[in-house]
Amino acid sequence: MLARSERVKDLVTALPVSSSIVNRYVPGERTDDAVRAGGRLVADGLRLSFDHLGEDTLDEEQAEATVAAYLELLDALSGAGLTRHAEVSVKLSAIGQALPEVGPKLSLENARRICRAARNVGTTVTLDMEDHTTTDETLATLHELRKDFPETGAVLQAYLRRTEADCRALAHEGSRVRLCKGAYNEPESVAFTSRHEVDKAYVRCLKVLMNGAGYPMIATHDPRLIRIAAALATRFDRAPGSYEFQMLYGIRPDEQRRLAATGELVRVYVPYGVQWYGYLMRRLAERPANLTFFLRSLVSTK
Ligand code: FDA
Repeated sequence: MLARSERVKDLVTALPVSSSIVNRYVPGERTDDAVRAGGRLVADGLRLSFDHLGEDTLDEEQAEATVAAYLELLDALSGAGLTRHAEVSVKLSAIGQALPEVGPKLSLENARRICRAARNVGTTVTLDMEDHTTTDETLATLHELRKDFPETGAVLQAYLRRTEADCRALAHEGSRVRLCKGAYNEPESVAFTSRHEVDKAYVRCLKVLMNGAGYPMIATHDPRLIRIAAALATRFDRAPGSYEFQMLYGIRPDEQRRLAATGELVRVYVPYGVQWYGYLMRRLAERPANLTFFLRSLVSTK
């Protein structure tokens, strides 16, 4: 509800990005801010995946600007000597997927340009997953991209009823799959909607991926699921480095460092850019406590 309110959006986007609420989840608006934050995380033994914020573009110029931002980022990461530790995450809707008629072709071409630039500096791309109406299209784009860039990764969302089957299809040699719970407000017809059902689905999907031949990327902050993932790694004889944990910038940072210190590979998803509003709203919606804190801060700011 809040995310859709234009009044709330006006209030929130008037906050400078340095405001503590935004800053907790987004290190900054510029490439420099992201690279600097990334450097600090790498010094703590963590890996990175950068996301240039933006989604649902219906404007070809905006899609082009997003591609340019990724090319600039990859260049900056290379300059900072971070590409061994960092990859990039891309939302197809930010690079043109939703444009009428030309969308799928344009976003595939744009994704190819980012994949090529990533490969040139020695790193890879993972395609984020958005709402369920885009899942087929995103997986089709992944399939096309992988013909030239087989290192390209995908995200699957455990809350979707289809995902266990998608995990089976993608649990093959060379395939990188990030498994998350899912962050969009989906209908019962396509998604599990209770916490318990989503968690059970996550475990089923995790078993498929950990038992498969691909590279599972376990994207969750949930302590129970992290324990289950570690137990499955033991059961399926997977050494650290043949899978990885992933968490979002600013969420459970102590746990990120603790896991890395035990020898696990841990990657932090670092979102940056001026379009932080949709991302921030999803993070706030995940935890009622965050929302209360956020609303209180908003009242005291204004
Ligand atoms: P859950 O929400 O149950 O949280 C478990 C615990 O983590 C909480 O009890 C709390 O301690 C902590 N926590 C979680 N969220 C918090 C928050 N916002 N603030 C403070 N503490 C919090 N989704 C998607 O639909 N498409 C995608 O492409 C991606 N990509 C992605 C990449 C990576 C690296 C991660 C970690 C996540 C995503 N997601 C995503 C988001 C994902 O679907 C999900 O919404 C969040 O990770 C929250 O789910 P958890 O698994 O952490 O469990």
